[in-house]
Amino acid sequence: MGRSHRSAPGAAKLREALERSRALLALPDGYRIAVVPASDTGAVEAALWSLLGARAVDVLAWESFGQGWAVDVVEQLGIENARVLEAEYGRLPDLGRVDFECDVVFTWNGTTSGVRVPDGDWIARDRSGLTICDATSAAFATDLPWSKLDVATYSWQKVLGGEAAHGILILGPRAVERLESYSPRWPVPKVFRLTKGGRLNESLFEGFTINTPSMLAVEDYLDALLWAESVGGVPALIRMADRNLGILQAWVDRTSWVDFLAVDPATRSNTSVCLRIRDAEGAGRDDAEPKGRASAMAGLLETEGVAYDVASYRDAPAGLRIWTGPTVELQDLEALLPWLDWAYEAASNEVPA
Ligand SMILES: Cc1ncc(COP(=O)(O)O)c(C=O)c1O
Repeated sequence: MGRSHRSAPGAAKLREALERSRALLALPDGYRIAVVPASDTGAVEAALWSLLGARAVDVLAWESFGQGWAVDVVEQLGIENARVLEAEYGRLPDLGRVDFECDVVFTWNGTTSGVRVPDGDWIARDRSGLTICDATSAAFATDLPWSKLDVATYSWQKVLGGEAAHGILILGPRAVERLESYSPRWPVPKVFRLTKGGRLNESLFEGFTINTPSMLAVEDYLDALLWAESVGGVPALIRMADRNLGILQAWVDRTSWVDFLAVDPATRSNTSVCLRIRDAEGAGRDDAEPKGRASAMAGLLETEGVAYDVASYRDAPAGLRIWTGPTVELQDLEALLPWLDWAYEAASNEVPA
């Protein structure tokens, strides 16, 4: 790990990480994959800064991360003809309104609302624009339709539970074609730059990086990839996450005080499950949900050493958020459930509804 990432053994490790990722994800021929700086955010922004501006943009936002990409598109890059298709927490925007003549920016799994797109059927096969998909918290836990994704990104710390640091950027042939035929009118910072002299910087997709990566993080990512291979690859990881979601689903079904934030069962995330507390009668949506109770529950669970960071994301409606990706053991989720019931009772006594 002390070796330079440019040394032959260092570069071989990076190449191995890319090759194992490509194989596990079953990327089609012609798709390129690179390690980029600044985690998933860096990968998404490298794509936005390098590719957008050639056509109008539809950006989908139904929770905090999508809203962040909309800010990049509309305010930072100032794209003319940008349209933000929004929905409130718990719902998806109307996918039927997406115009695939435009470049389309979307998050596959909205981590902070626990709402994901149900599949890729809504994405046009014969589109003229590019699809740019933030797939962090979906990649490795979802069957992604690669031919419909011109760009996809993820980070190492989400579904594979690896060390955070770097992002992965996947480019399909149409994205490469755009990079080689179009230059944005704005300056592209070096950490986002994917071309050299108007051509794709191929070395990035062969195990070289824009700047110095952490070889400790690379080793940890390789370890995570080997684990993923050992348990049966992506189909097994999907099954594990689905099974974890199923445990929570069964508990929600038999528990009157709780519900999924995701309204449509077909859109419920199998990695980031977001829950809301129903009102006292156990009915109705709870915009009046007592914010105090969810945070009191989170505080109690943390004090007991049962769960950490279990309150909903800071921008999301009050509630609980439970990671159910394939690195989470089923038994641990089963052990958590009585504690959630206990915390609800204890917090209800503390914070009257
Ligand atoms: C959907 C989504 N996009 C982007 C990010 C930001 O990722 P990173 O911290 O890897 O840059 C996250 C992190 O939780 C996320 O869940």
